[in-house]
Amino acid sequence: MPVICNEAAQQFTLRAKNTDYVLKVAPCGYLAHVYFGPSVPDADLTYLLRLGENPWTPEQNDRDRAVYMDTLPFEFPCYGLGDYRESAFRISAPDGTSTCDLRYKSYRVYSGKPRLEGLPATFATEESPCETLEIVLLDEYAGLEATLIYTAFEKLDVITRSVIIKNVGEQPCGLARVYSACVDFDTDKFDMMTLNGSWARERAVERAPLHHGKQSVDSLRGESSHQNNPFAALCARNADEDSGEVFGFNFVYSGNFKLQAEVTQHKKTRFIMGINDTDFGWLLDPGESFTAPEVVMVHSSEGLGGMSRTFHDLYRGNLIRGEYRDKRRPILINNWEATYFNFNTEKLISIAREASKLGIEMLVMDDGWFGHRDSDSSSLGDWFVYEKKLGTSLRYLVDEVNKLGMKFGIWFEPEMISPDSDLYRAHPDWAIQVKGRPLTRCRDQYVLDYSRKDVRDYVYSMMRGILDSANIEYIKWDMNRQLTEVGSSALPPERQKELWHRYVLGVYELMGRLTEDYPHILLENCSGGGARFDPGMLYFSPQIWCSDDTDAIERLKIQYGTSMCYPCSAMGAHVSDCPNHTVGRTTPFETRGHVAMVGTFGYELDVTKISQYERDLIPGQIAEFNKYNALVRTGDQYRIGNMFEDNSFDAFMFVAKDKSEALFEFVQVLGRPNQRSRRIMLKGLDPEAYYYDEQKPEVKLSGAALMNCGINIGGIWGDYKSLLIHFIRV
Ligand code: DGJ
Repeated sequence: MPVICNEAAQQFTLRAKNTDYVLKVAPCGYLAHVYFGPSVPDADLTYLLRLGENPWTPEQNDRDRAVYMDTLPFEFPCYGLGDYRESAFRISAPDGTSTCDLRYKSYRVYSGKPRLEGLPATFATEESPCETLEIVLLDEYAGLEATLIYTAFEKLDVITRSVIIKNVGEQPCGLARVYSACVDFDTDKFDMMTLNGSWARERAVERAPLHHGKQSVDSLRGESSHQNNPFAALCARNADEDSGEVFGFNFVYSGNFKLQAEVTQHKKTRFIMGINDTDFGWLLDPGESFTAPEVVMVHSSEGLGGMSRTFHDLYRGNLIRGEYRDKRRPILINNWEATYFNFNTEKLISIAREASKLGIEMLVMDDGWFGHRDSDSSSLGDWFVYEKKLGTSLRYLVDEVNKLGMKFGIWFEPEMISPDSDLYRAHPDWAIQVKGRPLTRCRDQYVLDYSRKDVRDYVYSMMRGILDSANIEYIKWDMNRQLTEVGSSALPPERQKELWHRYVLGVYELMGRLTEDYPHILLENCSGGGARFDPGMLYFSPQIWCSDDTDAIERLKIQYGTSMCYPCSAMGAHVSDCPNHTVGRTTPFETRGHVAMVGTFGYELDVTKISQYERDLIPGQIAEFNKYNALVRTGDQYRIGNMFEDNSFDAFMFVAKDKSEALFEFVQVLGRPNQRSRRIMLKGLDPEAYYYDEQKPEVKLSGAALMNCGINIGGIWGDYKSLLIHFIRV
């Protein structure tokens, strides 16, 4: 029973696998947070609220209710009532004031999980069921009802949350802030870990102790962003990769967000997560509802590694959809780093011909095939084939590639419009803009107003024209700039602040249409590399391009950070040419293969130009990828090295769920003089079982020895060298 209701104590317990999340109706109908942590058998945890000890509870002393308001742990704190910590909900009432006051009204429990209108969200499956608790809060004065939706997953340490606000009054009411989650912890003894970065340097791990005041990361760029990912972990000070208590939070959303930990006057921590309230507003007419996106909350008693594995299981089983969810993805070759804009049909076919001989399964034609696009300064929005450049029709190209036994994929950037495009010349008002102000260019392009259905319909009809014209089996959906001068020619002044969110809803709506109409197409998301690597996008595409930095060594860090909450099966990763185009580094072709192999795997180079030695390695790399992909895609990931702490090596493992086999990968970053071997402790094996290295079947060691005593990695001479060991249970 994942939801337990104690009517007498008015206490609700959400019981996920080994985790409880407890809330309670407190005096005066305020909904209080009681507990989040390992499961406990007790039916009543009300004592944790210290209501009897608190002389300021309204029953005892209503003269100073404000003191009570400022200390009670709230589930969904309202602005304006004396709780001076960050509130989760703030309105813009018809009289211009901001105060609101939501009190408990009712609850209901049901099995499964509701869809969130227009939004991506996790879902129940037969193998991974869940139960939902809805609590309705009401502010009679404002005429607003808030339905807090909590779901507990039976087999995972996961609780999800979201909120629906409904106008049950008679006047329109503005919403100024609707965060999706607020959790009050009884301690400030946490470190907060976040994933930060930049273009080509996404999701670098940063961990720092909390201190008094507010520590937040956010995005105001219109996308989840390169700079900050909508993920944070609150880690007990002693928690590390393998042990200790960690609470992970991830926002299932691809636009502006805010997450914040606040250490309060009484040394407690309030954590909030939701749509960024800067420049946010939503006008709710009577009878209308607003749905806030979902927050996934993971509890782990096995450190960061345990937290990550739970996120991976949840996303692989209960978020990612479509035909490719549980399948090995086709090994592709993408022409971006091979040719940039300088290609035609002949060139692409020459790449495909060579690639097909080596076992590569799909050619992806990247940017530059449409309008009159020979550089990044034109044609976005003109989704018709640039036949003069290609020299043939698209159909001819695709047919030729298919004849080679390969699939064909194509690149789009559907949310954008170039000032130099037929589309912009015909519809300048379709760009997001503040009327009368000059528009800021970024990569020489503007952003389309996706809050408008006519805009989306038009772009989609052009995309359909392309998709229906040839046998296209993969799409890379790119997004290469952030939003500026945010305004819509189609929205009235009082709704302009809705544009940020309406834009994201528009993107989701179109991606939903695309994936429904073309279920056989494999969709890969991308945003100038990895600026939209978030769970919202994973709902639509089983894989996301991790970063424009394809250097194997930089990728170790990027993929490590990404793995904090996203599974390897979703990480777009390719072998590219050297010196690497982003950092100028030269690494062994073998290592580039090993690093890309723990992602979706593919190539991003001109296979007709690389050395014969490298070409000869490709069939072996493909065989290795095929051999290990199921294990990487479905197994449990264990991080061993951490390049953010020690950048001399990286190591990680994938262990089969039944512990029957494991893949160990090691990358020596910089060789060390006079170090003949390195001892590495393995993880995740069955301590009582015996395992052997497939290359040395005569040596059998117990899982206990491999994990407690370790293995010796010796004899690696040279920088950037890597090795794989496949352990098999006897
Ligand atoms: C950014 C992407 O990350 C690249 O892989 C490539 O598709 C370019 N855009 C094309 O403009």
